[in-house]
Amino acid sequence: SLGAVAGPWSAWMPQNIAAFEGTCVAIPCRFDYPDELRPSAIHGIWYFNSPYPKNYPPVVYKSRTNVVHESFQGRTRLLGDLYLRNCTLQINRLSPELTGKYYFRGDLGGYNQYTYSEHSNLEIINKPTIVSPSEVLAESEVELRCLVPDNCPEMKPIVTWMKHEGLEEHSVYGLVEEEARSWTLVSLLKFTPSRENNGHEVGCKVTYTNTTFEFDGFATLDIKYTPRILEVNSSVEIIEASQVLLVCMVDSNPLALITWLREDVVLLEELATNLTLQLDNVTYTQDGIYTCLAENLYGKENRSLALTVMYAPWKPSVNASVVAVEGEPVTILCSTQSNPEPIITIFKEKKIVATVIYENQLVLEIPVVSHEDDGEYWCMAENQYGQRGSAFNLTVEFAPLILLESKCTAARDTVQCVCAAKSNPEPVITFELPARNVTVNETDREFVYSQKTGYTVTSILTLRGEVDSQLYIVCAARNVYGTKHQQLQFHHSNSLMWAKVGPVGAVVAFAILIAVVCYVSQTRKKKNMNESSSFIQTENPPVVFSGDYRTQGGLEKSESKEICSLESH
Ligand SMILES: *[C@@H]1O[C@H](CO)[C@@H](O)[C@H](O)[C@H]1NC(C)=O
Ligand SMILES: *[C@@H]1O[C@H](CO)[C@@H](O)[C@H](O)[C@H]1NC(C)=O
Ligand SMILES: *[C@@H]1O[C@H](CO)[C@@H](O)[C@H](O)[C@H]1NC(C)=O
Ligand SMILES: *[C@@H]1O[C@H](CO)[C@@H](O)[C@H](O)[C@H]1NC(C)=O
Ligand SMILES: *[C@@H]1O[C@H](CO)[C@@H](O)[C@H](O)[C@H]1NC(C)=O
Ligand SMILES: *[C@@H]1O[C@H](CO)[C@@H](O)[C@H](O)[C@H]1NC(C)=O
Ligand SMILES: *[C@@H]1O[C@H](CO)[C@@H](O)[C@H](O)[C@H]1NC(C)=O
Ligand SMILES: *[C@@H]1O[C@H](CO)[C@@H](O)[C@H](O)[C@H]1NC(C)=O
Ligand SMILES: *[C@@H]1O[C@H](CO)[C@@H](O)[C@H](O)[C@H]1NC(C)=O
Repeated sequence: SLGAVAGPWSAWMPQNIAAFEGTCVAIPCRFDYPDELRPSAIHGIWYFNSPYPKNYPPVVYKSRTNVVHESFQGRTRLLGDLYLRNCTLQINRLSPELTGKYYFRGDLGGYNQYTYSEHSNLEIINKPTIVSPSEVLAESEVELRCLVPDNCPEMKPIVTWMKHEGLEEHSVYGLVEEEARSWTLVSLLKFTPSRENNGHEVGCKVTYTNTTFEFDGFATLDIKYTPRILEVNSSVEIIEASQVLLVCMVDSNPLALITWLREDVVLLEELATNLTLQLDNVTYTQDGIYTCLAENLYGKENRSLALTVMYAPWKPSVNASVVAVEGEPVTILCSTQSNPEPIITIFKEKKIVATVIYENQLVLEIPVVSHEDDGEYWCMAENQYGQRGSAFNLTVEFAPLILLESKCTAARDTVQCVCAAKSNPEPVITFELPARNVTVNETDREFVYSQKTGYTVTSILTLRGEVDSQLYIVCAARNVYGTKHQQLQFHHSNSLMWAKVGPVGAVVAFAILIAVVCYVSQTRKKKNMNESSSFIQTENPPVVFSGDYRTQGGLEKSESKEICSLESH
C-alpha cells in the first residue's frame, strides 16, 4: 500500500510507531505531488510536533541546510531518496523526550512547499508489553504475548521469557507482525496454569547483540479458579451456654461468597477469604449440621460438620400427683431431656424403686399397688453435665386396717380401750358395746379421745366404774372402701398384780418398771443407732441426692429419745 498514493499532495507513513530508548527507529515514508510540477530540485524537512513553519517547530531533518534542532543534532538521517518520493527517516540514540508527532514537509521550490497532514506518532518505550487474555482459567491452556517493536534496521531485538520455568507444559515461539509497515516481534508463551500460579510474575526480556541494552517487562498472572475450602472445623461437641467459633478458610480467585448454613438456613455470608461463625451461649436448639459454602463465578464447594450441644438433664416431668386405690395397677412416667442421655432413677425414702440407663424416660409400673407404696417419690435424672430431680406423691387409698396395739386394759375402776386403725381416707373409729346396745365415737368427748397421725387414727375409750366380766368391746373402723370390726382383747394381768401389792406398792413398782423399760430401750436404741449408721454407710445409694431430698428416720429417733428422758426424770 506504500506505493498507492491517495492524491496529488499526499503522503503515507505509519500512524504509530514505537522503539526502545537508546536504539533507533526508521519511519517509513512516501510522499507525492502533482506530476505537472516537474521540480528541478526536491528538498524535504521533518518537523517535530507541529506541521506549521510559522510556529518554528523543532527541525528534525532538513535536506537543504542540514541545520537541525539541537535535540536531533547528529541523530537523524534520511534513508529514502527524495527524488524517488521516498522520505524514510531514521533517528538514532532515541531518548524519551523524542516521543511525539513527526511531520514531513516537501519543498519543490518556489511556492510549492507543503507540509503533509499525514504524520507518525513516535513512542519511545523502555519495557516490552506483555498481553494476556482477559480471562485466564486454571487448567486450561493460555498464551501470553510479549510485544517488542522492531523498527530499527541496525539492531535486531532478542526476546526471552523469564520466570516461566515452573509453568506446566510451557512452550515458547516467536513471530513477527506487521501493521502498516510498523513491525512488532511477538514472542508467545503457552502453558497450562494451575491455581498455584495465581499471582506469579512472569517476565519478558529484550536484548540486542553487541550492546548492553536490556529491557524487562513483567506481568502478574491473574488465574481464575473455583473456590476450595482449605480449612473448616471438624465435628465438635460443645457444652451448652459456651461460645463456639466455626472458621471456614477459602482459597479462590476471584473472592468467593462464603456462607455459613445450619440445616439449609443461611446464618452468615460475606465476600471474603475466611468467615468465622460465632455462636454465643449455645443452646440445644443450635445442635445440628453446619455447612460452609464457598461460591464464585467459576464454581462452588461446601463442607459440613456436626455441632453437638451437650447439656444437663432438664427438670424431669412426672405425673403431678397420682392417686390410686389399693390393688389397682399404677404406671408413672418420668421423662426428661439431655445430651448425652441420662441415667434416670426413681427413689422412695432412699430406696431405688426403678432405674434406667441412657434413656430419656423411665416408666415405673406397679401391677398391684399396696398401701405401703404410698408416699413421696423422687425422680432424678443425671449425666456428666449435671442432675435435676422432681418429687411426686403417690397416694394409695385403702380400706381400714386395725393395728396390733388395739386392746383394752382394765384397772381397778376403769377400763381403757385403745383402737388404732389405718386407712386412706382416714378411718372413722367407733366402739361398740353390743351387750349394752351402745355405740360411741369421738363426738362423745366424755368417753372417747381420738388422735390422728398420718393415715392412722387412734381412739381411746375410757369407761369408769365396775368392770363387767361379760363386757366385750368391738372396734369398728370404716372408710369409703369398707369397714373392719375387731373385738378388743382385755389385758387383766396387770390389774390383778396391782390389787395384791396395794396402791403404794403399785406406784413404786410402776416407777421401777418405767426405769427398767427406759434403760433397756435406751441401750437397745444406742445399739440400733450404731448398727444403723454403719448400715447407712455401706448401703448408701450410688447417686448423690439433691439438697431438697430429706430423710425422716432421724426425726423419729430423737423424738422417742426425748420421751424416754422425760419419763426417767
Ligand atoms: C524507501 O527507502 C528505504 C530505505 O532505503 C527502503 O528500505 C524502502 O524500501 C523505500 N521505500 C519504497 C516504497 O521504495
Ligand atoms: C558483534 O561483534 C562481533 C565482534 O565485534 C562481530 O563479529 C559480530 O558481527 C557483531 N554482531 C552483530 C550482530 O553486529
Ligand atoms: C474451629 O477452628 C478454629 C481455627 O482452627 C479454632 O480457633 C476454633 O476454636 C475451632 N472451633 C471449635 C468449636 O473447635
Ligand atoms: C444464655 O441463654 C439462656 C437461655 O436463652 C439465658 O437464660 C441466659 O441468660 C443466657 N446467658 C448469657 C450469659 O447470655
Ligand atoms: C454440598 O455438596 C454436595 C456434593 O458436592 C451437594 O450434594 C450438596 O447439595 C451441597 N450442599 C449445599 C448446601 O450446597
Ligand atoms: C402418668 O402420665 C403418663 C403419660 O402422661 C400416663 O400414661 C400415665 O397413665 C400416668 N399415670 C398415672 C398414674 O396417671
Ligand atoms: C407430697 O406430700 C407431702 C405431704 O403431704 C407434701 O409436703 C409434698 O409437698 C408433696 N409433694 C408433692 C410433689 O406434691
Ligand atoms: C338395742 O336398741 C335397738 C334400737 O335402739 C333395739 O331395737 C334393740 O332391741 C335393743 N337391743 C337390746 C339388747 O336392748
Ligand atoms: C358419732 O355418733 C353420733 C351419735 O352417737 C353420730 O350422730 C355421729 O354421726 C357419729 N360420728 C361419726 C363420725 O360417725
